[in-house]
Amino acid sequence: MMWKEHYRVGADLIDNQHQELFKRVSSFIKAVQTKAPWEERKAEVLATLEFMQHYVIIHFSDEEALQKEIGYPAADQHTEIHENFKAEVGAFANKIEQEGLDEQGVQEFAARVMTWLIMHVAGEDQKIGQFMREQGGSQ
Ligand SMILES: [Fe+2]
Repeated sequence: MMWKEHYRVGADLIDNQHQELFKRVSSFIKAVQTKAPWEERKAEVLATLEFMQHYVIIHFSDEEALQKEIGYPAADQHTEIHENFKAEVGAFANKIEQEGLDEQGVQEFAARVMTWLIMHVAGEDQKIGQFMREQGGSQ
């Protein structure tokens, strides 16, 4: 899962965070897919999940702060999209806390996170960059 230059929004902080997210999701997927016994991979999967949960919150709030700062008109809708994704990740974390970590469930979740990240960064987030360019400013 590769970061692409055209994913850039045009704000360094956000672009760097996006690149870090892509890196982490890639290693998450690798950890989920390698042939090593599941028991051995569990620890890495759990560590990545925990990191992602924290990092996504920091990133989303930085991105929301940028939107406020530049007066992005669709900031509220964007925040709602972030909230929904955080809730989805939180629900998965609760589920594995209660039911344990099963390989099938983690694989589905990893695929979902990957798809979401690509769609969001390549779609919704690009609108922020477009707005900034229309305003004639860059960060
Ligand atoms: Fe976003």
